[in-house]
Amino acid sequence: MIKKIGILTSGGDAPGMNAAIRAVTRTAILNEISVVGIMAGYQGLLNGEFNPLTGQSVRGIIQTGGTILRSARCPEFRNVEGRKKGIENLKKEEIDALVVIGGDGTFRGANELAKEYDIPIVGIPGTIDNDIYGTEYTIGYDTCLNTIVSAVDKIRDTGSSHNRIFFVEVMGHESGFIAMNSGLACGADIILIPEQKNQLEKTRHFLAERARQNKSSVIMVAEGVKEGTMAIAEKMKVEFSQFDIRVSVLGYIQRGGSPSARDRILASELGVEAVHALITGEKGIMIGRLYGKMRYEPFTTAIKLHKCADAEFLRIAESIGTYTPTD
Ligand code: F6P
Repeated sequence: MIKKIGILTSGGDAPGMNAAIRAVTRTAILNEISVVGIMAGYQGLLNGEFNPLTGQSVRGIIQTGGTILRSARCPEFRNVEGRKKGIENLKKEEIDALVVIGGDGTFRGANELAKEYDIPIVGIPGTIDNDIYGTEYTIGYDTCLNTIVSAVDKIRDTGSSHNRIFFVEVMGHESGFIAMNSGLACGADIILIPEQKNQLEKTRHFLAERARQNKSSVIMVAEGVKEGTMAIAEKMKVEFSQFDIRVSVLGYIQRGGSPSARDRILASELGVEAVHALITGEKGIMIGRLYGKMRYEPFTTAIKLHKCADAEFLRIAESIGTYTPTD
């Protein structure tokens, strides 16, 4: 029987992580399980940085961005010795189950720990990248899209006033989800994503067509595009000197801010389900939400399989005037 759950947030923070911490803590306490917050992800686990969480200590955090538990990337946890240190600290603290909130790196660490030691671990997908298999959305993705939309709307105002072409670089690591859906929501004229090849060639083709129309444009670029936003823009400046081309890298503002209602709801749903899964004996799984239903996805597939741009998305984008060059 589980008496004490440890909870941590790891990797890039995402808006809504606090709502998930709150949901896990409250659900556990309701089921007479105590909760310990592990500070700064796996790093805090190795350093033995533990803080008890209570119903009171998670009050007033549902609306806040970042993570009250702080986050980190921890190279030491990638090796056997690091994980051994972690499990010893868990035993010392009498923690008998873990909830880990993060992205694929977080689940990879959890999967290794679960393979080596018999400890129940349940994951909650929290990353702005939305690149986790087994869930339609990850916590933080929706807020991130809204932040981008509001930034790009402003860029458009100045872009059209000066008749400029803007390359807007958004995050997403190696995945194009953020670029795809923010591009759709912003009415971007072209979207460049790492899942497709020859993005430089396709930008060239787009600009050659645009030259005849001579209008301002927004080109949404995922940071993972192989050719690189700056390099593409520099080349285009030379080849299309008739255009006034600018680059705007949105950067870390995409990870911050108060979570959207959608992220708060998703985080609450996944947090509650994570505790129920542990109570019913589940382990080595991530809680996802797919087609309106909760789903238990084994860590092994959540980290191995990939979601990517589908034909349906490309069809919709094309229909409303966004040029999504296909291979
Ligand atoms: O995974 C979230 C993310 O924001 C990615 O989109 C980005 O590539 C990465 O984290 C940046 O990480 P760091 O905080 O280590 O610079």
